[in-house]
Amino acid sequence: MTKSAKLTIGEKVIDLPIHSPTLGPDVVDIRKLYAEADVFTYDPGFTSTAACESTITYIDGDKGELFYRGYPIEQLADRSHYLEVCYLLLYGELPNAAQQADFEYRITRHTMLHEQIHYFFRGFRRDSHPMATMVGVVGAMSAFYHDSLDINDPWQREVAAIRMIAKLPTIAAMAYKYSIGQPFNYPQNHLDYAGNFLHMCFAVPAEPYTVNPVLAKAMDRIMMLHADHEQNASTSTVRLAGSSGANPFACIAAGIACLWGPAHGGANRACLEMLREIGTVDRIPEYIRRAKDKDDPFRLMGFGHRVYKNFDPRAKVMKESADEVLGLLGIENNPTLQVAKELERIALEDDYFVAKKLYPNVDFYSGIILDAMGFPTSMFTPIFAISRTVGWISQWKEMIGDPTQKIGRPRQLYKGETRRDYVDLRHR
Ligand code: CMC
Repeated sequence: MTKSAKLTIGEKVIDLPIHSPTLGPDVVDIRKLYAEADVFTYDPGFTSTAACESTITYIDGDKGELFYRGYPIEQLADRSHYLEVCYLLLYGELPNAAQQADFEYRITRHTMLHEQIHYFFRGFRRDSHPMATMVGVVGAMSAFYHDSLDINDPWQREVAAIRMIAKLPTIAAMAYKYSIGQPFNYPQNHLDYAGNFLHMCFAVPAEPYTVNPVLAKAMDRIMMLHADHEQNASTSTVRLAGSSGANPFACIAAGIACLWGPAHGGANRACLEMLREIGTVDRIPEYIRRAKDKDDPFRLMGFGHRVYKNFDPRAKVMKESADEVLGLLGIENNPTLQVAKELERIALEDDYFVAKKLYPNVDFYSGIILDAMGFPTSMFTPIFAISRTVGWISQWKEMIGDPTQKIGRPRQLYKGETRRDYVDLRHR
């Protein structure tokens, strides 16, 4: 039986169809509301609005579940690897051996950047934030790869997708090397995706560099955990930018710009800086008090999530990885990790955090791992951006292929002046 909802406005009763998803709450379809009832809905921050139909990622915030194409994140983090997850997100199914080999071949044959992009890098100040450089360089890719700009050609869309997944690690590593005044490293296609990224970031021409497989595995896991997350702020930005027909490189650059904010991808950096500022376990109560104080803008970074009102499943996997990486490096007694664990313990027992359902999110432990690997905090968000690129592209491709897709154009609740007449300067 098809479900519907009735909305009564004055004398008028409007029938609104209800769509049932495969998982999650029903969705009331209000597309005809304005035409039939001459009203808008009001939902700043989209807390109750489904902006699109999607088959890619599912989150149950109350149960703390995250599925990519139906597969739980814990199983993927345990048994899969990043490029397999990329294939899954992009094409909908896990690859067989031949498909996997072909996909990895295509990605590794696109890792180099057009040589002229090197000059583009050199135009930035040395102290540019790597995210600023990435927004610029990814946007500039539209000026270098003219053969993958036509969004109406499926082959060009495919090439653009492969190019971005392949080249983002190269761009991020170059942004880092440039910021520290070291020469760029070209990609090494015999290395796996995560290992190649570590090599491009940490190798120097003067010495041999061997990728540590445990660190490469931890990096690969970080990438898997960040690969997609449904209609979050940066993904919605990519979809909105793409809805106008903008080219894929411009859309991903928009996504990177949105990710940069401290409430989104910038939180991993802010979280590590906060843990360092707290410094010792005895100072935790002071910060818990500040987080609860309505007059203090301070928030516990790495805590809370718009959708998860139970543990963020990614945080659990990340915590295991943090123990593994710090154990390998022989720094299990790292004071930042001690502060993080104690902060988590105290916050999870505190009435304020319990009542507001504030749990550690993915960013709570990722910064500790990246710091232990040798990354400066400025590289945390670029690593998130590399990982999320596949999610953005998968969502962008899905949107382009959706026949119901329209340019995104929200309306507003206007509270400004009503009509008034222009007053000449001398009379104001
Ligand atoms: N510390 C202290 N109080 C908090 C926190 C926090 N981290 N997060 C939320 N609250 C309180 C907030 O003050 C509010 O209280 P009240 O109802 O009394 O006004 C209540 O909890 C609800 O907060 P909200 O801001 O309405 O919730 P939101 O869904 O709009 O925000 C969030 C979600 C992630 C932006 C927020 O929890 C936050 O700022 N967290 C810290 C930043 C962070 O870790 N971000 C990473 C998110 S995961 C990775 C990603 O998506 O990029």
